[in-house]
Amino acid sequence: MAAVAARAGPGRRILDALDERLGLRALSYPVPEHANKLAYSLGGLSLVSFLLLLVTGILLAQFYEPMPETAHASVRRLITDVTLGGYLRGFHYWAAMAMVVLVGLHLLRVFVSGAFKRPREGNWIVGVVLAGMTALFFFSGTVLKWDQEALEALEHNIEIGELLGRLGFWFSPRFGGVPLLHRLYTAHIAILPALFFLIVGVHLLLVKRHGMAPSPFRHGPEPEPTEPFSRHLARLGGFALILVGLLTALAVLAPPGHGPAPVEGIEVTKPPWPLLWLYPIENWVGVSGILWATLAIFVALLIVPFLDRGPERHPLRRLAVVVPAALVVLAVLGLIVYAALTPVTAHIAG
Ligand code: HEM
Repeated sequence: MAAVAARAGPGRRILDALDERLGLRALSYPVPEHANKLAYSLGGLSLVSFLLLLVTGILLAQFYEPMPETAHASVRRLITDVTLGGYLRGFHYWAAMAMVVLVGLHLLRVFVSGAFKRPREGNWIVGVVLAGMTALFFFSGTVLKWDQEALEALEHNIEIGELLGRLGFWFSPRFGGVPLLHRLYTAHIAILPALFFLIVGVHLLLVKRHGMAPSPFRHGPEPEPTEPFSRHLARLGGFALILVGLLTALAVLAPPGHGPAPVEGIEVTKPPWPLLWLYPIENWVGVSGILWATLAIFVALLIVPFLDRGPERHPLRRLAVVVPAALVVLAVLGLIVYAALTPVTAHIAG
């Protein structure tokens, strides 16, 4: 035994020493082969984008001033005066877009492959909460840049808070002792990240407990898992490097805009594209349409495991749920394109 240890190279000896202290080999538990596919790495990549947002967000917080009088100028200074400030902001912006897209694709993968079915219904509901938190991160981040688009987003937020009556107290400019912008900042950099870590921890523990759901496309019985999880992590690391490269290129080639300082009482912007599907709904129904449409989507997501309960996972044999879901996705995408083409409308100003 001693002879074997002596013959092992320095890399192996370092790994053994680390394993003895940190239990690294526990990460080599077997997972199914399909876990290494990109479709099954979308949850991991969502987490990677969150971690990238955390690192860049900590750096941005060294320059940002969360008061209405100074917030806009502090973002301008970051872009024009701080070394690599524009790049940092661009990276954070594109990582946020990536997270929105990756969480959406992960949700769709889980839905289409029927991976939310027994015994994973609880984890689907935890996932819906994470999707809601992703939306809150995105919305609060949009307000922080404090240009015209940001102020108009906040004004909509206040209106919706009023529609909620007493339940919407947190969104009232009269609640608390600091401006709502400051409270949204606290939510964005402290409350939401802390809750997100806790909830994502539960999500991952449940994935570990249940194991990866079987592939819906396999004929015959599911083979025993044989791939070490550590190899899945290594592949995820590869995908993560590609993501970092992509975000770097986008941050340099397509830096996010920063409009002029906000003016109250006018409505001249449209929301960013992930929220744009709500814009025509607001045109047709009014501000309350934003509340009802968002609630409808989240309630529909929450009841998915109760509607689609049978053991069948293949999407083509679950058309009764897959077709309506596809129609909703197409409608949301259609509304985004339609809203991008329609002129700006004032809904709440004036
Ligand atoms: C917001 C950030 C999220 C993160 C960081 C995350 C992370 C993960 C990871 C790492 C996995 C295992 C690998 C994979 O299947 O890709 C996973 C699986 C899962 N996720 Fe998420 N997830 C998030 C959001 C969601 C959402 C929005 C839903 C659904 C509404 C969801 C439902 C599930 C389910 C049911 C599984 C088990 C899938 C299976 O066994 O095949 N997750 N998640």
